[in-house]
Parts: sequence; structure tokens; C-alpha cells
Amino acid sequence: MIAIDKQKLLFSLHTRNTTYQLKADRHSVLVHTYYGPRVSGDMSYLIRYADRACAPNPEEAGLDRTYSLDTIPQEYSGCGVGDFRLPSLELELPGGSVSASLRYTGFELREGKYALEGLPAFRGTAEDAQTLVVFLEDAAAQVKVELYYGVFERYDLITRAVRVVNEGKRAVGLRQCASLCLDFLRSDLDLVTFDGCHMMERCPSRAPLRPGVQGVGSVRGTSSHQHNPFVVLCGHDANEDYGVCYGAMLLYSGSFQAQVERSQYDNARLVMGVNPYQFRWTLGPGEAFTAPEAALVCSPQGLGQMSRQFHRAIRERLVRDPLEGRRRPVLINNWEATYFNFNADKLAEIAETAAGLGIELFVMDDGWFGGRSDDNGGLGDWWVNTDKLPGGLEALVPRLQKLGMRFGIWIEPEMVNEDSALYREHPDWVLKIPGRAPARGRNQLVLDFSRGDVRRHIYGQIKAGLSSADVSYVKWDMNRSLTDVYSAALPPERQGEVYHRYVLGVYEMLEWLRRDFPHILIEGCAGGGGRFDGGMLYYTPQIWCSDNTDAIDRLRIQYGTSFCYPMSAVGAHVSAVPNEENGRITPMETRGAVAMAGTFGYEMDLSKASPEDRETIRRQTAFFKEHYELIQYGDYYRLSDPFRDGPYTAWEQVSPDGREALATVVAGGTRAAPSFLTLRLKGLDPDAVYRVNGGEERYSGSALMEAGCPLPVMGGDYWSLQLYLEAE
Ligand code: GLA
Repeated sequence: MIAIDKQKLLFSLHTRNTTYQLKADRHSVLVHTYYGPRVSGDMSYLIRYADRACAPNPEEAGLDRTYSLDTIPQEYSGCGVGDFRLPSLELELPGGSVSASLRYTGFELREGKYALEGLPAFRGTAEDAQTLVVFLEDAAAQVKVELYYGVFERYDLITRAVRVVNEGKRAVGLRQCASLCLDFLRSDLDLVTFDGCHMMERCPSRAPLRPGVQGVGSVRGTSSHQHNPFVVLCGHDANEDYGVCYGAMLLYSGSFQAQVERSQYDNARLVMGVNPYQFRWTLGPGEAFTAPEAALVCSPQGLGQMSRQFHRAIRERLVRDPLEGRRRPVLINNWEATYFNFNADKLAEIAETAAGLGIELFVMDDGWFGGRSDDNGGLGDWWVNTDKLPGGLEALVPRLQKLGMRFGIWIEPEMVNEDSALYREHPDWVLKIPGRAPARGRNQLVLDFSRGDVRRHIYGQIKAGLSSADVSYVKWDMNRSLTDVYSAALPPERQGEVYHRYVLGVYEMLEWLRRDFPHILIEGCAGGGGRFDGGMLYYTPQIWCSDNTDAIDRLRIQYGTSFCYPMSAVGAHVSAVPNEENGRITPMETRGAVAMAGTFGYEMDLSKASPEDRETIRRQTAFFKEHYELIQYGDYYRLSDPFRDGPYTAWEQVSPDGREALATVVAGGTRAAPSFLTLRLKGLDPDAVYRVNGGEERYSGSALMEAGCPLPVMGGDYWSLQLYLEAE
């Protein structure tokens, strides 16, 4: 609910458990007065004024030396005019100066949720969301700034977006335009970021704020394996179940920046948005620029509650699932089974075994097109290699369907190999700096997706392929970082726009795909989890979480991913052992238990699986289908931290009414003379009585949560248990 005091120009954005408040002050500066657990009243009493040395005073303050932009909490910071903390907006004016100085001019209240053209955004109806638009202006620059706020009461979710309009007669350069600026009147906070590398994405890293600027970002043109566009600020004492936590996600799939500054007087400012690195957008007269959406959840009750709010909001208000709540299929992908070495008979052999084990969708991965026999050639030529697949998709797909399988296919539209017909014909279509030979990555170059003609050509090829057969699923991959970021189609003064235009181009083509093939489920991928972000989730309801399929490494990757993203978005597969990436051997039961915490599938040559493994797989697919609702849409609880706690990692999904739960436990290793283990559950109904895996014993919910569930003594490395709890 948005409450507005028109006299005071006070805007209170209330959700069920939180309040976010801003106010236009006596000098029309839009100040941020509060964000946290729900409160009432004008919170501007928290802002104190004092004559501080070296803190300049704006002209309107006259001789009042206690009023300085450098010390008051602001809603959207400018630069160059007296606030030395992190800027949100940097304008390059026609004379060459760089500054931004914003003052409040008005507001607009709308029912429902604003949308952003060409950009991903949470969706809301008049029933569950409201929009506040606050107008600011920089009079000297003749620039108007619109701050958008979406308020979703039920999810404790506040979204933000920014639109900058040039109302002058000459072009203005945007050097930075952040999506989110959030000032705190405190700095006794920890910053949690989600970091890693290819094969080890989104590992949480937590540290108290230290004086100065700290943060993460990407300059790779993707949101990246290395840092995720999601950060948390929380009290030093916050844990899964206790303490105030602020989660901030950016719905953006390109180079981003998330920085926090702890300032001289122990305030903190978080600024998040498109990375200003090599960014400069020319705003001609009358033109507008829209910064991508950011979304905030404040949880007064720890990190677990914060995650569950993000999960619900992302599932119900961000993801657009073509299956609309129907169960997504259990899939088999041939990548780790065959790599590039396959033909139609081999695929059919795997599919036939898979179909007999309860698997429903066959995904043909890389290697089916052009002259692609390894990863040195073929990208850009999106026609079927009929040496491998005689008769094309027209012949293959019905053959797989006869075996009881639906069909999915891998593509990597943004890339080209020099060894391809496309590159030979259009060498100028790649990102390339004049006079320099572009750097290769996985021996491929990046197509200039900022260009409409390039996008239309690639899309034409892909559309023809997808139209030639009954395709249910597409895996959209992207396997290198952007370098040599220069577009032959843009003038010199617009080269600072290429990184962002590239991302807009990717979004546009994804939207075409959704428009023309509304029934196709798209899975995002970027060398595994290199573009796992809220932007992609708007187009691709699931994302391949990591190229690392080892169940034990996955415990950590999936744990970190779960802080923001729902498990229904986390692509996870069972693969063969010893694991291809790290050589580890884990039981089939454990691999299944870990993969079915995500979207669930297999990625191995099932025709070679032993009879015992086949039996286990049959049980796993049946179990997953039976408990699908609970696993994918239940409330998710992290029961332990795989980076710290021993001897096991555990998590739990609980049905919204608390009557059903599935807890999974995976041991990190084994030892002789083991201790007796108990698992303390969460989210149950304390008064209900539960049975575990249909056994005779009965436990109260309160006992299971306060004292725990006894675990049987298990042996062998990396054993796992799935405990299904049902209330009587
Ligand atoms: C990337 C993906 C893999 C697979 C290969 C194919 O690495 O993450 O899952 O599709 O490309 O080349």
C-alpha cells in the first residue's frame, strides 16, 4: 500500500512486513528516510543536520551550513555538486561538464505495476501491485528523471526503475544511470556477494562493511560466473532465521556494478545498475533512456525468509512459464553422454533407454548443425548436419516421439566461428575494434547483437529450424565473454552504447522466440551459470546452473544460488561417475537427490547404465513426479551451510500449508564409529503429527523442529537420505 502525505510530500511504501519511505525536503531534495521492518509515521526525524567541515552547501541552503548533500540520505544521488559519495547519475552536458543535481517536481500514483519496454520486469496486476512515479529534474541540464517504484505487498517486494529524458535542445551524454540507490543511516552491516568462477558459481562471501567503497561487478558483457547481480546487506548478527536483511537483485544480464560505500559518518549507500565501465549513452533532444529494473526484499526475519520472498515473487511475478503451472518434463541431455560424437541412431538409443525409465524430454545438445564436429567451427550456420542426422529434424523428431519422447534442441545464437559460412559471408558482423584482430574465446567470436540486421538474420535461420519439427524446448547457450566491444554500425560517439545495446538485442530476440513459439520452454545457459540472473529469468524459466555436475560441488553452487533464485529455475542433471569435471565418485541415489532439488534431468549415456542404476533412475523419476509440486513450489529452507557445517548438507521444501515436507541430507564424507545424527527441521506445523517416509513412528512438528528427526546410521562416501514428512 502506498500512503502519500501531500502536505509533507512524504511517500510511504508499505508491504505486509516492511516500509520504504522517501520525502521531498525543504529544498526539494528527495531524501530517503527509512527502509526496514514495517513502521508508521514520518521517519525524517532520523536525519540529523550538523555543520560538518568539507561538506559543501547547495545554493538554496543560503547560510545554513548544516545542510549538505554530502551528509543527508538521498533517494537518487547526483554528482559534482556537493555529494562525494557514490553517484547514481552522471550527465555530460553540451559544454563538456559532468554533473547531476536533482530536485523534486511531482509524483503520480498508479494502480498495477509499471512495465519497461524492451526490458525484463516483474509483472503485477491492479489487485496485487501499485506504482509510484516520482519526478525529478535537473533544471540546468534540462533533464527529467522519473523514479519508478513497484510495490508488491504480498511478497515484501519493492521494485525500482529509472527513466531519464532529455528535455533540452542539445544532446546530453549519460555516463552513468544506476537502477537503484539505497542510503542507510547506519553502516554496521555485512555485505554478502555471490562469487566464483566457471564450474563454481555463486558461492556466498560475507564481510562487514569497511570504510570506503566495496562491491562486485562484471565487465564481461554478461552478468558473469564471477559475480552475481544480487547482493545482500544484513546485520552482523543476521542468520537464516534471525535479523534484518536486505536483498537487492538487478534484472540485467550484461555488465553490471553493485557497490556499497561506508561513508565518513558511518552511513552506507548501495548503488546498483549497468556498469559505467565504457558506458556512455547519447541522449538526443526528446530522447529517453531506461535503466533496468532492480528489486528489493527486506526481511525482518533472517536470510531464509528473504530468500523465500524472492522465490515466490520470481516464480509468480517474473518468470513467464509456457507450461503455466503444468509439470515441466524430466529431461535427458546428450552433452556429457556423447559430446560432439553422435548420430541419429546414437540419440535414439539413449532416448529409448531413457523413455523406459520415466524420462520425458530428449535434448539434443551442441554439434547438430553446420560443419560442427568440435568446438572450432560451425557456429552461425543453423541448419541441420544431415550427415549426422539424415532427413533433418523432420526425420529425427518423429522417431524420438515414437519412443515416447518430446524433443528439445541446443542453440548458441550470439556466436560465430570463423570457420563457418556465416563468417565467410559477413566478417563485419562480429564485435571488432578497427585495426585490431579480435580475441577468440572457445575459438569463437561474438556477433554484434546490437545490430538489428544481424539479429534478424540469425533469428530467421533459427526460426526456420524450429518450425521444421515439433520442438518443445530450446537451450539458449552463450559461451564466452565479450571483448573488442565496438560496433561497425554505430558512429564513434555512440560506441559507449554497444555493451548495453547488445543486451537489449539479446532480450529482443528472446522475445521474438517467445512470441513465435509460445509453447517452447527455453532454458538459459552461458557456459553453465555465467548468465544466471533475474533478467534472463524473465525469458527463460530455467537456467543451467553450472557446467559442474558433480553432486558434492553442486551442493555449494545450489546453496549459493538459492539465496535469490527459486529452485524451479535451477537446471540440475545427474551425470556419470567418475564425474567429468572433478573425477569424484558419488552414489546414483545422491546424484539424483541433488539434481531433483532443481529442474531435474539426466546427462549421461543411459544405454550404458547398469541394471541397478536403471532401477534407481526409474525410482527417482517416479519419486520426483509424485512430489513435483512440493519440490518445485514448496517453501525452501536451507538447513545447513555446506561451506561451514559438517557432517552433512541439508535442505527442505515445505508445502505452503505445512502439511508436507521433503528434507534431503547429503553427507560430505564418512567415518568409522559415527556419531548419531539428528536433523532439525523448519517450517512445519508445531501442533501437527508427522510420519517420516511412511514409517510407524510419529513425531510432533514442534519436536521435529526443536529437537530434530533421528537419522539412521549410514555408511559409504557421500550417502544421502530423502525424508518425506506427511502430517496425519
Ligand atoms: C556449454 C554448456 C554445456 C554444453 C556445451 C556445449 O558449456 O554449458 O551444457 O551445452 O556448452 O558446447
